[in-house]
Amino acid sequence: MNQFPTIRLRRLRTSATLREMLAEVRLSPSQLIAPLFVREGTGIRREIASMPGQFQHSVDTAMETIRRWADKGLPAVLLFGIPDKKDAVGSGAWDDGAATQRLIGEIKQALPHLVVITDVCLCEYTEHGHCGTLCTRPDGTVDVDNDPTLISLAKTAVSHAQAGADIVAPSAMMDGQVGAIRSGLDEADLNMTGLMSYAVKFASSLYGPFRDAAESSPQSGDRRAYQMDYRSTGQSSREAHLDVAEGADMLMVKPAGAYLDVISDVRRQFDLPLAAYQVSGEYSMIKAAAQAGWIDERAVAVEVVTAIKRAGADLIITYFAEQLTEWLGE
Ligand code: PBG
Repeated sequence: MNQFPTIRLRRLRTSATLREMLAEVRLSPSQLIAPLFVREGTGIRREIASMPGQFQHSVDTAMETIRRWADKGLPAVLLFGIPDKKDAVGSGAWDDGAATQRLIGEIKQALPHLVVITDVCLCEYTEHGHCGTLCTRPDGTVDVDNDPTLISLAKTAVSHAQAGADIVAPSAMMDGQVGAIRSGLDEADLNMTGLMSYAVKFASSLYGPFRDAAESSPQSGDRRAYQMDYRSTGQSSREAHLDVAEGADMLMVKPAGAYLDVISDVRRQFDLPLAAYQVSGEYSMIKAAAQAGWIDERAVAVEVVTAIKRAGADLIITYFAEQLTEWLGE
């Protein structure tokens, strides 16, 4: 008996050229979306302590950064606004003169081909840090009041779209938010504004660094009464089905790296373009381990983002977007 194998899978791994020819998953800068935090003021470029390499910008410095990104070949940004003043309902979110709206206008003037996506949520704009207007339930628990929040979200999306946003991305996890925003946009004659739904968004501890960046931590409680429970993936297709029925143009799964099963599930069930969001905690963990010298930042970031692509995401929202465009170009 021949004790040596006839079939040798290693044959196809022998050279870099062969491995390159046979690579099934390829990352390209054209699939990446870079998040950016914009606040009021001028000349501000404040590094976020828990997210090395990420900044809060004012509109002017944001423009410098975004020009650089566009020059490097990044196709799209996802904007998050940070107001100076917060209130109970988050009215700063639909202020046409707020930093986000001004930045959208400037981008569209200077870089008309860059795709501008905006996060539509209220947590940065409410003094309590929840994603909508609060109510008290009969048993005394304080919760986000779904339906009044829908009106605020629709006003916010319309304000972003009027400023020139190409795509609005509601992330508040209110029931009916996609439908409310779609009709708000249509009534305002904005029927060509796209809608990327954070359809499958889990209540995740991986958003921790983002809440420092966006100054949006809930002052009491958490978001488990509206974001999904990570133990119940059965709800992901219901969430996605509803958003499709309500008019979403694209779906999103968030977080990404620990939810590859969910990404591949949604990919199989739906034919809409699918985005995945590699969130702040996923970024910060890689950065921290790399800074400690424990992992190779570039190799790990490329591997993890490739895995998110392999799971079925068409587009990836990642804080590594700028670095990835450099790495992929080399
Ligand atoms: C707004 C929003 C959050 C993130 C994106 N949109 C925070 C949250 O839901 O608490 C998180 C993004 C990240 O962690 O990078 N609701």
